[in-house]
Amino acid sequence: MESSNRSASDAADLVERSLEELGVRDAPGLEALFTQLQRLLHEELGEASQKSPDTARQEARESLRVRWLGRKQGIVRSITENWLRSAPVELKPAIGQRLNALREEAENGLKSNYRVGIADTGVYTTGSIAAQSSRPAAVDALDITLPGRRRVVGVEHPLRRAIREISEIFFSLGYSVEEGPDIESTYYNFEALNIPEDHPARDDQDTFYVDPQTVLRTHTSPVQIRTMEKQQPPVRIIVPGRAFRHDAPDATHAAMFHQVEGLAVDSNITFADLKGTLDYFLKAFFGPQVRTRFRPSFFPFTEPSAEVDISCLFCGAATGCRICKQSGWIELLGCGMVDPALYSHVHYDASKYSGFAFGMGVERLAMLKYGVQDIQLFFQGDLRFLHQFR
Ligand code: PHE
Repeated sequence: MESSNRSASDAADLVERSLEELGVRDAPGLEALFTQLQRLLHEELGEASQKSPDTARQEARESLRVRWLGRKQGIVRSITENWLRSAPVELKPAIGQRLNALREEAENGLKSNYRVGIADTGVYTTGSIAAQSSRPAAVDALDITLPGRRRVVGVEHPLRRAIREISEIFFSLGYSVEEGPDIESTYYNFEALNIPEDHPARDDQDTFYVDPQTVLRTHTSPVQIRTMEKQQPPVRIIVPGRAFRHDAPDATHAAMFHQVEGLAVDSNITFADLKGTLDYFLKAFFGPQVRTRFRPSFFPFTEPSAEVDISCLFCGAATGCRICKQSGWIELLGCGMVDPALYSHVHYDASKYSGFAFGMGVERLAMLKYGVQDIQLFFQGDLRFLHQFR
């Protein structure tokens, strides 16, 4: 404490004398003088901030405020009176600058949250760290006790994940991925798939027309045609992608959704291959306990056509529940043998080749597998939802 007394008197004593008395006549002399004052200020600030309890610290700060910034007798004030006024003109700007800097440091240092280094943990002694620095020590302080900033790590979107899981199963069966445009000609979306202009199936897939010959595709089936145009059999492809329909949004409908199309064409492909493939896929995707059921259905581009159900994942088809609407079965996807009429559009020899196709809704599969109640959640980007898929 002896040093504090001495430095205290030093600072006040210094500013009582004129520059001339102090023997300061040039810029380097001024520089040294202000540096000395700065050091004294920080020593005193450091000592005050180490006081405890809080009340003692506040008292010490208050007396420093009067001592340094007091209007009448404060050290800063005295500098103006005793140094600045009588200084030679050429030194005045430099004195003014250093004076302002000193005032600012005193003000900042006296703010209540002022801390020197990490003095409170006792790692540094405040006096020494303050004395080493010509800037307020708080500016330089590195508080290594602060927790680091965590960066949020993203997760694979559940629809991407479902598409990946579906794809991996079909990769293991020798399928590869094809893609087609989201904005599609009515020829590929409808005509080539056996859906002529006045066919009632077009109403089911009421969609967004870009112009009379162009639509946002209503399903991924046009890629069947595009692929067969490009290559002769054997064909084994899946087509993950977006589809669009003029549907009002609710818990199970969205105007934009995803499908995975499948197509296999080769010699001697039968309905048994279709059944075996989809049964294998659904057990691999949902689990080996799942049973499958094929029901007759209709699609213009497959003949015969079927709808595939799986035994209810929630009640196991035993009792019936709300999700399977008491039936024990959940309707899942459409499929069938490729209608030979399609082959004439793509120059395949219908007497040599046969094949099957299927199409499934990715959101529907993902909702069932991951237990998602509302399709809209996939599109809202709510991190509370998405982070559950870590
Ligand atoms: N494209 C049909 C749909 O969107 C599904 C389907 C694909 C049916 C392939 C049979 C064969 O409803």
